[in-house]
Amino acid sequence: MNVLVTGGAGYIGSVTVERLIEKGYKVFVVDSLENGHIEAVHPEAEFFQCNIGAQNELDRIIKSCQIEAILHFAAYALVGESMENPGKYFQNNVFNAHKLIQAAVENKIKKFILSSTCATYGEPSQVPIPENHPTNPTNPYGESKLMLEKVLKWYHKCHGLEYVALRYFNACGASPNYGEDHEIETHLIPIILEVACGQRELIKIFGDDYPTADGTCIRDYIHIIDLADAHILALDVKGSKTYNLGTGKGYSVKEVIDCVEQVTGRKIKTKLDQRRSGDPAQLVAVSETIKNELGWKPIYNMEKIIQSAWKWKLTNPKGYNKN
Ligand code: UFG
Repeated sequence: MNVLVTGGAGYIGSVTVERLIEKGYKVFVVDSLENGHIEAVHPEAEFFQCNIGAQNELDRIIKSCQIEAILHFAAYALVGESMENPGKYFQNNVFNAHKLIQAAVENKIKKFILSSTCATYGEPSQVPIPENHPTNPTNPYGESKLMLEKVLKWYHKCHGLEYVALRYFNACGASPNYGEDHEIETHLIPIILEVACGQRELIKIFGDDYPTADGTCIRDYIHIIDLADAHILALDVKGSKTYNLGTGKGYSVKEVIDCVEQVTGRKIKTKLDQRRSGDPAQLVAVSETIKNELGWKPIYNMEKIIQSAWKWKLTNPKGYNKN
C-alpha cells in the first residue's frame, strides 16, 4: 500500500514512517521542515519538502505517487504558544489541513488518519477519560484539532471519506534511530533527561498542590512506537472512528522524576515552581476501546519509555544537530 505521511520528519511522524517501512508499506513523506529534521526522514521513504497548505502540489504528489491512504501529523503542537498566537494554529492546523483533506477527497483516498490529542477534552469531568467524554478545549491548540475532527466528520458524511482520529495522551520515548528534538523543549521527560546529562541545572516542578496523591500533575505517558503501531492498525479500520491512545495508567511528575533517577542512576535536581497555567490535575485515558476493537496493546511501561529516551539522548545529546 502506498501511504503519504505529512510531518514525517517530525517526532511521532518519523517513527511511524520507520514502522510503516518495516511492515512493508511504500512511504512518501511531506514535510515543510519548519520544525522537522531531514535527518529524521527514513532513507527508504520518498521525501517532498512541501507545506500542507500547497493544495496543487499535494494533489500532484498524491496522483503521481498513487497514494491510497494519508497519515496526517504535520501540525503545530505547543499549548502555550497557541494561547499567545491562536491564528498560527487555526491557519495551519485547520485551514491548511483542510486543503490536504480536500486533496484527499478529490483523489478518492481510502483512509485518512488524523493525529489528534487529549487536549480536545479540556478540563475533564471524569478520569480516566472515555472517548465520549464532552469536548471543551481550554486552548486554541486543542480547539484546532477538534475543529479538524469535525471537518473530517462532515467529509465522511458528505463525501464518504473514511478517517480515524487518534487522540494521543502524552507521547514520549524514542526508537533506536529517531527521538525527540524540539527547538523549544517544553515537555517533561526530555527536560528531565537534559538535567540527567548536565545540559540543564534543574527541573522546575510546576505545582505540588494539585488534588493528587503527591500533589503533582498526573499524565498518561505513551511510547511513540506504541502510537505508531496504532496508526498502522487504524489503516485497516472499516468506516470512521475516534480512539484515545494512552496506557490507562497515570504517573505524577514526581514519579516520572523518580523513574528517571532509577534508570539513569543520576540525581535529578528539582525546584518547586508555580502551577503552569492551563494544566489539568489529571489526564488519563480510557484506552479499552482501541484495545477491544483493534487488538492494540501498548507494550512500553514507564521504565522502558525512559530507557529508550535515555539511550537516544546519550547517542544524540544535541538531537539531530551534530555540531
Ligand atoms: N512539567 C513540569 N515541569 C516542566 C515541564 C512539565 O512540572 O518543566 C509538568 C507539567 O506541568 C505537566 C506534566 O509535567 O503536569 C507534563 O507536561 P508536558 O508539557 O510534558 O505535557 P502536557 O501534559 O502539558 O502536554 C501534553 C501534550 C500536548 C497536549 C496536552 C494536553 O504534550 O500536546 O498534553 O493537555 F496538548
